[in-house]
Amino acid sequence: MRLIEGGSPPGTTVEPTLPGAYYTSEGIFRRELERIWFDTWLLAGRSDELAAPGDFFLRTVADESAIVVRNREDGISAFYNVCRHRGARLCSEASGTFKSAAVRCPYHSWTYDTLRGALIAAPNVPDGEHGFSRADFPLHPVRAEAWGGFLWLNFNADAPGLAAALGLPETAAFYDRYGLDALKLGKRISYDVQANWKIVMENALECLHCSHIHPELSRCTPPTLPRHWLHEDLPESFVFKHSGGMEMAPEFEAVNIDGRSRRARFPGLTEGDARTIYYAFIYPHVLFGFAPDYVFFFSVWPLGVAETQVHAYWLFHPAEMAKPGFDGSDAIAFWDATNRQDWEACRLVQQGNRSQMYRPGGVLVPSEWRVNKFRRYVLELVPPPAAF
Ligand code: FES
Ligand SMILES: [Fe+2]
Repeated sequence: MRLIEGGSPPGTTVEPTLPGAYYTSEGIFRRELERIWFDTWLLAGRSDELAAPGDFFLRTVADESAIVVRNREDGISAFYNVCRHRGARLCSEASGTFKSAAVRCPYHSWTYDTLRGALIAAPNVPDGEHGFSRADFPLHPVRAEAWGGFLWLNFNADAPGLAAALGLPETAAFYDRYGLDALKLGKRISYDVQANWKIVMENALECLHCSHIHPELSRCTPPTLPRHWLHEDLPESFVFKHSGGMEMAPEFEAVNIDGRSRRARFPGLTEGDARTIYYAFIYPHVLFGFAPDYVFFFSVWPLGVAETQVHAYWLFHPAEMAKPGFDGSDAIAFWDATNRQDWEACRLVQQGNRSQMYRPGGVLVPSEWRVNKFRRYVLELVPPPAAF
């Protein structure tokens, strides 16, 4: 594994950012929805968030809402959150449990089975009469797949499968040692961020800002220590990108605020892994952090051009969680503080990006080379309109 002291790979040069309009234009945002968000696999959450049949949560991309639900056969189904009758939003709660694992519209009580979305009741509308057949009005499905205990959605019915899109299993093989499938959800926090979704991702893709706004993170994994770059050693796909490992400071035993270890590390880690947090990204919207005794990740969901929701998760080994006195709050507090510092920075970037002086965009210095990779991904899918 190659070590680079801070900085960037050889040959990296100064590059432009995306033009300012990519962060402020409604028109570009609509194109991103079509070309990126409604045509890619999105990490919706963890399987153990939906423990029992009928348990559901919603995931929102702009005006589109998906219901993700454990169906009565103990599988995961996903549907557009739109009633087939007159189009009412079926469910407005962010999460909960549907009685009898069926979804009932609040307007005229059309009721749908969550297994395949079949319309099973339409009060006062006799089935098979007046040219009405319930079979013609199932919920519109959203594709759902699972990998590693993670639940994934795709709004495009014809997209390639999840494994093909992510390049599995090769792209993720390095992280098998964390036993992702078996990990349990310790905590989830959702954040509202007043910034374009790409600002949130670009912020996550560089650590140039770490020593300036993240005192806790920088004490634990000083940005000046050697980075263990992985991107040239491990297979990537169009969307799955490795970011390498950051070492803990010598006095730290854990990736948290005080450096004190509170949990056994994951079985199967090397001595080197035990002093490192590895990062990986899945475009367009996921960051993973693989710490020795927990896995942190978040997914970024655009609600509007300058309004974004971030769902952050902390996963732990089930044997640790089963111990009396288990406490993951050290890891949670560490990333919660770091996240909030990031969201404030993102808010400021969004404000500045609205300036007429930022229309041409800004500059990416060499250590922001991962941001540049992400910029190329965005430009490939959403090229600039001719007006730029
Ligand atoms: S709009 Fe849903 S039952 Fe009428
Ligand atoms: Fe940050």
